[in-house]
Amino acid sequence: MQESLQRIAAQVKEKFLQEGSGHDWWHIHRVRTTALDLARWEGADLFITELAALLHDIADHKFHGGSLEAGPAAARVLMESEGLPEALIGRVVQIIREVSYKGAGVETPCSSPESACVQDADRLDAIGAIGIARAFAYGGSKGRLLYEPGAPPENHADFEAYRSAQGHTINHFHEKLLLLKDRMQTATGRDMALERHAFMEAFLRQFHAEWGD
Ligand code: ADP
Ligand code: NI
Repeated sequence: MQESLQRIAAQVKEKFLQEGSGHDWWHIHRVRTTALDLARWEGADLFITELAALLHDIADHKFHGGSLEAGPAAARVLMESEGLPEALIGRVVQIIREVSYKGAGVETPCSSPESACVQDADRLDAIGAIGIARAFAYGGSKGRLLYEPGAPPENHADFEAYRSAQGHTINHFHEKLLLLKDRMQTATGRDMALERHAFMEAFLRQFHAEWGD
């Protein structure tokens, strides 16, 4: 099974190496590393955590017409092509279903310790210095403004409202990034989020001081 994981990693790397919206191979690599660290602390299954981390963005809804089933389906095809057992495939697919942020008003519970580790690792990569860089990379890839005074953040009550939002990137901090530290699923993830959260707050203070608003 370890060889299957290595072959899947190689395929994911090839597919994502050139991605330019902050969902590139290095994001997946960081999530894999962080998820494994969390899994060791939390006592979660390392193989399932690593496989799910590698496949978590394989067909993200943001790039597949808002479909939340594209990712789980694409992950299933890859795992089936490796002949992995159905029980394992089912567990990994469920983690991928649970990973994405779906709006400030939408809870995203995790049904297993492995899912908690992958969700936390993905969200840790969305905050802190790397998270800031990724937010502006993503905003740029979608043609969004950095900031627009007088356009306040929204508290999206459901996934459809969150998905179709067109706001500037500073709003994304208020609509998602600053909320993540209180939504960590693991104790280790909560600890790791604190420093990254404080760094984003300092960044926003400096940003608004330079802007002068
Ligand atoms: P999720 O599935 O929870 O959205 P991803 O791994 O797909 O997590 O990463 C989402 C990344 O894209 C984050 O770094 C996030 O900041 C960025 N992103 C998503 N939506 C926006 C947006 N509207 N503006 C800026 N960045 C965004
Ligand atoms: Ni991700």
